[in-house]
Amino acid sequence: MTAVTIELNGVKIADDVEPRQTLADFLRDRCGLTATHLGCEHGACGACTVVMDGQATRSCLSLAVMCDGRAVQTLEGLRTDPVMEMLRHQFHEGHALQCGFCTPGMLIMARDILRRHSRPSVETVRHELSGQICRCTGYANIVKAIVATGQQIASVATSEE
Ligand code: FES
Ligand code: FES
Repeated sequence: MTAVTIELNGVKIADDVEPRQTLADFLRDRCGLTATHLGCEHGACGACTVVMDGQATRSCLSLAVMCDGRAVQTLEGLRTDPVMEMLRHQFHEGHALQCGFCTPGMLIMARDILRRHSRPSVETVRHELSGQICRCTGYANIVKAIVATGQQIASVATSEE
């Protein structure tokens, strides 16, 4: 076992982990953070996406030992994040989910897109989402919800100027 210290959703935790345990398994099985979903388990679907040191990261491809000294955020830790609140609202209003399996990863990637692009276009969102797989929605409403959130962020910023 290897000792690790991780800032998880803003709280420093110390634990002993198997060197081969993935971050996804650590989050789900050890920490009970089951919003992080596992689909393909080899980096293809994006369902397991979390935030590591501010960057969207596949937790099925990361080992828990690699997170020693780093900051990890899961969807549970982004409940009060203002951009995530807007995204959740737009996903709900715009019917951007069906079974919901891909949704945690989609929301985290959507927040990451909006962090890197102000008012992203449909084309930009489609390009950036190309690594996230959804089996249900056909993507159109997901893309619309992210574009709408980008517009909402821009209009809030304008009204505060
Ligand atoms: S479960 Fe990690 S990318 Fe699919
Ligand atoms: S809503 Fe079912 S997989 Fe995306």
